[in-house]
Amino acid sequence: MKTIAFFNNKGGVGKTSLVYHLAHMFANRGLPVFAVDLDPQANLSSMFLDDSKMASLWQADDRRTVYEAIEPLLEGTGDVRTPNVELISPLLGLVVGDLSLSRAEDDLSSQWSDCLDGKPRAFRVISAFWRVIERAAAAVGAEVVLMDVGPNLGAINRAALIAATHVVIPLAPDLFSLQGLKNLGPTVRKWRTDWKRRLEVAPPGNLSLPAGDITPLGYVVLQHGVRESRPVQAYQYWIKQIPRTYRESVLNESNLESLPAPPEDPYCLAMLKHYRSLMPMAMEVHKPMFELKPADGAIGAHLAAVRDCYEDFRLLATRIAAGIGIELP
Ligand SMILES: Nc1ncnc2c1ncn2[C@@H]1O[C@H](COP(=O)(O)OP(=O)(O)O)[C@@H](O)[C@H]1O
Ligand SMILES: [Mg+2]
Repeated sequence: MKTIAFFNNKGGVGKTSLVYHLAHMFANRGLPVFAVDLDPQANLSSMFLDDSKMASLWQADDRRTVYEAIEPLLEGTGDVRTPNVELISPLLGLVVGDLSLSRAEDDLSSQWSDCLDGKPRAFRVISAFWRVIERAAAAVGAEVVLMDVGPNLGAINRAALIAATHVVIPLAPDLFSLQGLKNLGPTVRKWRTDWKRRLEVAPPGNLSLPAGDITPLGYVVLQHGVRESRPVQAYQYWIKQIPRTYRESVLNESNLESLPAPPEDPYCLAMLKHYRSLMPMAMEVHKPMFELKPADGAIGAHLAAVRDCYEDFRLLATRIAAGIGIELP
């Protein structure tokens, strides 16, 4: 099972939209996949599902969300459950997000340190997301799981990230994103080494624990912050800094000589355009932008944009699949 987290502690860079579109693209190409919404804001879930569907999945007496799957563990009444995987299409599923997930933050924070004492419950709690995802993957027969997380460096995200075999970093070419990358890289590296230290003192038993490799696959530059009015030089200035900042902060490399700028940088997985009105159109009908039809309002020049968008995501999916060692059908 490959679990890919799309992570940046900066919000609004397009993480959720990226997970949504890639999940559709993988399924579209014949790969069984599901997405897990680990952002307590549940934006990904509302991209997939309309309000009435969300309301039915959030019903108090019949909750079918990621929180419901970990609730017995948090409440001390049992262990994780197999989560509901909401089927969007035959090859595409969603583990639905939940605003209540923020209630797990405290427990995930305190149990992290308790792992160092080798406490069994601490390992159960910290590995909860991993084990929930593993059960879901077995239930629906998916090899690839995409994780969307909220924009912060908190305990929920730490537990989500150690459950990630890989990480992709969506970035915008601006000061805030670059600055975010400088925090994010060392934090992810620290989470990895801290988890490996905990694994050494894990109690013996058959609890499935993640390896916590969090292998970086690269970054995706989301150019949606780029407005026609903005000087091209300013944009180029930030773009050119990404390869070095990525290597220094995420890969911990130093003594870097001249590096190719995106898109030539091998760690640049894609430079995604701002697809403008395609996005609101897509959200309206709960479809990916690249599947919009004239009946959805995609007429004239929009149709050409739909085709470009398909090609952009097709290439990105191919690169990510190659990065995790999976051949797309
Ligand atoms: N490639 C894109 N083209 C057009 N709009 C986009 C694109 N990517 C993201 N957006 C829009 O930008 C906003 C932020 O995107 P979102 O995916 O929610 O970011 P994040 O998850 O990083 O907070 C949303 O309104 C989304 O619809
Ligand atoms: Mg988001």
